[in-house]
Amino acid sequence: MTTLTINGRQVSLRGPDDTPLLWVIRDEIGLKGTKFGCGIGQCGACTVHVDGKAVRSCVTPAAAVAGRAVTTIEGLDPRGAHPLQTAWVAAQVPQCGYCQSGQIMQAAALLKATPHPTDADIDHGMNGNLCRCMAYVRIKAAIKLAAAGQAGVHA
Ligand code: FES
Ligand code: FES
Repeated sequence: MTTLTINGRQVSLRGPDDTPLLWVIRDEIGLKGTKFGCGIGQCGACTVHVDGKAVRSCVTPAAAVAGRAVTTIEGLDPRGAHPLQTAWVAAQVPQCGYCQSGQIMQAAALLKATPHPTDADIDHGMNGNLCRCMAYVRIKAAIKLAAAGQAGVHA
């Protein structure tokens, strides 16, 4: 049986190996922070980390991440106080909120790879994460805010 590690917890895969990781996260273990948007890897709402890298969980077969560390928005910081989460609140980023966990997970991977991103780095790194509420200006502002207090960033 395939076993996954999600937020440090061992999870046995109940369905077929090609079950999308997003299904396991939401339906098998009940973590609802990661969202279904398009289902075809085009919107970023389902973004999680696999070994610290941002991946689209809707198009990632669960078995493909066996033995690797999967982190969802619930596992990003045990207190929900990751510098990006703090910055998101300070900059009042969300509108409807639907895209936001994916945005934060993508931004966390960006800051891990590029702790002091330029505007172009942010535009490039966040390019695939869509927001129907057009919160892009506030998303960028919050990423800059988190980067400015870089000491605590630990995606
Ligand atoms: S739901 Fe996965 S990229 Fe849109
Ligand atoms: S805040 Fe509504 S889709 Fe981004």
